[in-house]
Amino acid sequence: MSKYEFPVTRTATPAAKPDPDNLGFGNYFTDHMFRIDYTEGKGWHDGRIIPYAPIEMDPAAAVLHYGQSVFEGLKAYRAKDGRILLFRPDMNAKRTRNSNKRMSIPDIPEELFVEAVKAAVRADADWVPAKEGTSLYLRPVIFGTEAFLGVRPAKQYTFLVIMSPSGSYYKGGMKPTKIFVENEYARSVQGGTGFAKISGNYAPGLVSQEKAHALGCDQVLWLDGAERKYVEEIGTSNAFFVIDNEVWTASLELGTILPGITRDSAITLLKDWGYDVKEKRFTFQEIYDAWEAGRLKEVFATGTAAVISPVGEFFWEDKHMVIHDGVIGEISQKLFNTMSAIQRGDAEDKFGWTVEVEL
Ligand code: COI
Repeated sequence: MSKYEFPVTRTATPAAKPDPDNLGFGNYFTDHMFRIDYTEGKGWHDGRIIPYAPIEMDPAAAVLHYGQSVFEGLKAYRAKDGRILLFRPDMNAKRTRNSNKRMSIPDIPEELFVEAVKAAVRADADWVPAKEGTSLYLRPVIFGTEAFLGVRPAKQYTFLVIMSPSGSYYKGGMKPTKIFVENEYARSVQGGTGFAKISGNYAPGLVSQEKAHALGCDQVLWLDGAERKYVEEIGTSNAFFVIDNEVWTASLELGTILPGITRDSAITLLKDWGYDVKEKRFTFQEIYDAWEAGRLKEVFATGTAAVISPVGEFFWEDKHMVIHDGVIGEISQKLFNTMSAIQRGDAEDKFGWTVEVEL
């Protein structure tokens, strides 16, 4: 039994459900949302489910000026037997605690986070789509609301969970992506905020994403902030490289990489299948050299929204690399199939990752 109970105010005007064949990502929002507020001296208070609607904010709210904001992404899946499953929500709760700490936002206890997510899903359970490849994408977001222009942590915050029935992140579903390797701008530096899931990590990347799109690419591969040599991550996901019989991904210890939950799950599955996974620091030159020598077998990205997204091409400086003949690799496909089956309750969950939302 949870110590959290959230009153529910239901909408008087429920929206029509969108066509499950044409959801895309992040286009539709459900009828309700979770809201809890924080006031210094009182803590988090008045957790509640309310109709989804615009929120009122003072024009001087801290988030609008100094960007005090953290967010998360996780999904609720509809199993064939009708149950609703969350995938590792405790990991999102833990990451939020780390992100909040980095952004001087008050701590959200793990149980409060998970119960908030469950309450939101319960309120809009009929919005969890059943079609394969779809899910209810959950977007927790926390931001400073105090009206004050001095630079210091706000004394008031709001934490919302909004929900969006979604299909695949990239148009056209799971197909090999084209990736632009960014050698001008950087996402993250040591001592910065790369490990935290904060809103401010994303806006500065948009200019690079525009550059990528202008070249016909889907996303950006970030290199390290100091030298633009070392591989960090792809715009909305972590990057994995299969070289000979090893699988490489950037290590977390410098604090510049987002500790992805799909990243962690992919590493666990790959190790379980006997792959030699190396979390380490490596340059894009090493990747290029391995590709030239025919040793780069496969590249894929992992993320909650992106799931497993194979990489078919890289554009790096004046070089163009085609990976695995531009078709989906065996490891990418196996990871996608296995992860999706576990998330939807179709495969044995031997690591205990799924959490049922009791209705
Ligand atoms: C996610 O995968 O959940 C993300 O937050 C990535 C992106 C859509 C911002």
